[in-house]
Amino acid sequence: MDIKVSEEVPKEYLTEVQNILSNKEFLSLDNYSHHHKTSRLMHSINVSYLSWLMARKFHCDEKAAARAGLLHDFCPYDFAEKTPTGELQAFYHPKAAAKNSFRTFQINDREHTAILTHMFPLGPVPRNREAWIISLADKICAVTEFCCVAIALARNNRMVVVKTTA
Ligand SMILES: [Fe+2]
Ligand SMILES: [Fe+2]
Repeated sequence: MDIKVSEEVPKEYLTEVQNILSNKEFLSLDNYSHHHKTSRLMHSINVSYLSWLMARKFHCDEKAAARAGLLHDFCPYDFAEKTPTGELQAFYHPKAAAKNSFRTFQINDREHTAILTHMFPLGPVPRNREAWIISLADKICAVTEFCCVAIALARNNRMVVVKTTA
């Protein structure tokens, strides 16, 4: 799995997320469909980029927004599976994503909170500005993806996931 990035994607954004986008386990999110015709990987990229843009606009922590946006659904499993706790997936997966993100990318407290609360109002209330941004960006991307409208970096193929053999 590889990611093709067009020249239109800002270098400042790529710098913040490069280590995550080169991680094999993270890239495996491409194997799970999300919101109808999108993959969980492309959805996460879209949420990340939109969150980064909003964080810049509102003078928030851009790096935390880009990273937490990318990692908010870092759950390499099928959402149709039963959860180990018996909770609904809507309540369980933010905790799984936060745990996986901490294990693999040593996320900070701000990023951790944003991942844990992204499903608000299902689940806890966002407790920092970046968390509100990610929760909002997730909903915007979900709606547009459900409607099969390309948003953020899916637009004009600004970022494309390429399947490699072997
Ligand atoms: Fe989610
Ligand atoms: Fe999401």
